[in-house]
Amino acid sequence: MSDLKQQLLSIKDEFDAKVLNITNSQEADALRVAYLGKKGELTGVLRGMGSLSPEERPVIGQVANEVRAHMEEELTTKIAAIKEAEKQEKLKNEVIDVTLPSKIRRAGARHPMYQAINEICDIFLGLGYTIGEGPEVEYDEYNFEKLRLPKGHPARDTQDTFYISENILLRTQTSPMQIRIMENNKPPIKVVCPGKVYRQDTMDSTHSPIFHQIEGLVVDKGVTMGDLVGSLKLFAKKLFGEETEIRLRPHHFPFTEPSCEVDLTCWSCGGKGCRVCKGEGWIEVLGAGMVHPEVLENCGIDSEVYSGFAFGIGVERTAMGRFGIDDIRLLYENDVRFLKQFK
Ligand code: PHE
Repeated sequence: MSDLKQQLLSIKDEFDAKVLNITNSQEADALRVAYLGKKGELTGVLRGMGSLSPEERPVIGQVANEVRAHMEEELTTKIAAIKEAEKQEKLKNEVIDVTLPSKIRRAGARHPMYQAINEICDIFLGLGYTIGEGPEVEYDEYNFEKLRLPKGHPARDTQDTFYISENILLRTQTSPMQIRIMENNKPPIKVVCPGKVYRQDTMDSTHSPIFHQIEGLVVDKGVTMGDLVGSLKLFAKKLFGEETEIRLRPHHFPFTEPSCEVDLTCWSCGGKGCRVCKGEGWIEVLGAGMVHPEVLENCGIDSEVYSGFAFGIGVERTAMGRFGIDDIRLLYENDVRFLKQFK
């Protein structure tokens, strides 16, 4: 047997051994290049055919063709097998297990402070009040002047705020809503107005420079302090339970006369005295009073015919009591671990 034939057959054996170990299409391509490519093993041998005798040439030529055909067939079969295996593998990985439990979609929840606002407003809605809202950027005239707090009044000192201009500021209370409502409505008036208010203050566990109030206003013929007390009692009992009582302490607000601060039985100890109420048994929740006749007149309401009461509820404090929250800052940090507890 000629050298060349011998060489061809050993190349074939070598190829056959290698083709068995192929595991992917890249390896198949590399093997094709190594044996059948321009610089491949088989091509190299065929170059040497020029030196063969005319008798030998067709014999070797035939062997060479057989070897090439064999290699191509092997490679084709192998590639088809690999492709099929790769497809099966992919299908296996993409299998969808329809019996797996689905991802849980967690619904959000209303912020505890807005839950408290809604609860409080609902109580007053039940008493026949409507709900009003007004701007946080307010006229000095509405926030102070028409509420009998002229420029330079000492009571302004405790309610410092941002001034947008000389006469426009961030409201320090929801009481300007009293003016807005009375200027635009004729009695009988029965309304609650929730909203944000702003005051210069240092943040600590019970203070925040931005907080919420709910203003209440009732104006009609023959409204008395008794009506105010009755309404607030009902509100306290509905929000914190039947055993809850209210306590009025005389106070001063320029826009109400008489004025009072209103305490509720401590929601933590029920009145015995504890850490939450600092041993008092009572917690201050709102300011209130009979609308000052001058304020009625400032809004074009005849104070000889009509009277009214107003109150301002501190929302944060009420929400903290309602939900047992001991630091006001928790209400503003929006930490999901905190908020999750109020679903
Ligand atoms: N606006 C007062 C405050 O912020 C509360 C208040 C409202 C008092 C209505 C009387 C009547 O302190």
